[in-house]
Amino acid sequence: MKIGFIGSGGMAKALAGKWAANHDIVISGRDAAKAAVAAQSIGVASGTAPEAAAHGDVVVLATRHEDVFAAIDQAGGPEAFAGKTVIDINNPVSVETFQTTRDDGRSLTEAIAARLPGASVVKAFNMAQVAVWEDPDMSYDGRPLVTLYTSDDPAADAVVEALIRDVGAEPVKHGGNLHAYQLEAAAAIVIKFLFAGRDTHTVLNLIQPEIKPVH
Ligand SMILES: NC(=O)c1ccc[n+]([C@@H]2O[C@H](COP(=O)([O-])OP(=O)(O)OC[C@H]3O[C@@H](n4cnc5c(N)ncnc54)[C@H](OP(=O)(O)O)[C@@H]3O)[C@@H](O)[C@H]2O)c1
Repeated sequence: MKIGFIGSGGMAKALAGKWAANHDIVISGRDAAKAAVAAQSIGVASGTAPEAAAHGDVVVLATRHEDVFAAIDQAGGPEAFAGKTVIDINNPVSVETFQTTRDDGRSLTEAIAARLPGASVVKAFNMAQVAVWEDPDMSYDGRPLVTLYTSDDPAADAVVEALIRDVGAEPVKHGGNLHAYQLEAAAAIVIKFLFAGRDTHTVLNLIQPEIKPVH
């Protein structure tokens, strides 16, 4: 697949690093030199945000959650994302109150989907810490990590499921994007326990019950 990243921080490097062998990836950031260094460290290409958005059939929004809408605008606005699968990995969570920061009871995912009506927006990869995504072996006693996602488009389901398998995890659809706020609230629990010192690999990670070969 052709995948563009808006953002080139920890999560972009972890996911792009896992996908680099099988996919054609361009990552971007606000600072071109910084994005180039990040890209080089995992063996993928870098570009500007508009270039990364134009490159991807799949575009991953991987800025801090506060920067998502500014980043969408800087990448070219809604037209730049039309016809693409957009993966929202972001957690709108306060690290002071450990609550979600959206106050309308809806998710950031739904707000992004409203901003990008021509795209298929999915929520995924938000519930485990970056060290988990970086781990070359995402199985636990032979049982793979389960990655919950939400989506309103069956074609996007197939795309995100393939990408979840490509990081070494097992996809499970939680529902449509109407349910994405639950994944964001679940991430708030994860983040709270991480801040309290619990281990990244054992904090609220769902594990597949059967032993399965890891992809
Ligand atoms: N870290 C985790 O464990 C984790 C786990 C699951 C989900 N998430 C979610 O994933 C998202 C990314 O987290 P992260 O840890 O990767 O953050 P990060 O390391 O802080 O990286 C954020 C990246 O976004 C870039 N950026 C900011 N504004 C931008 C803009 N307008 N246009 C283009 N790029 C922009 C930053 O560039 P600069 O370097 O120039 O600031 C940086 O490269 C967050 O929303 C977070 O909630 C994080």
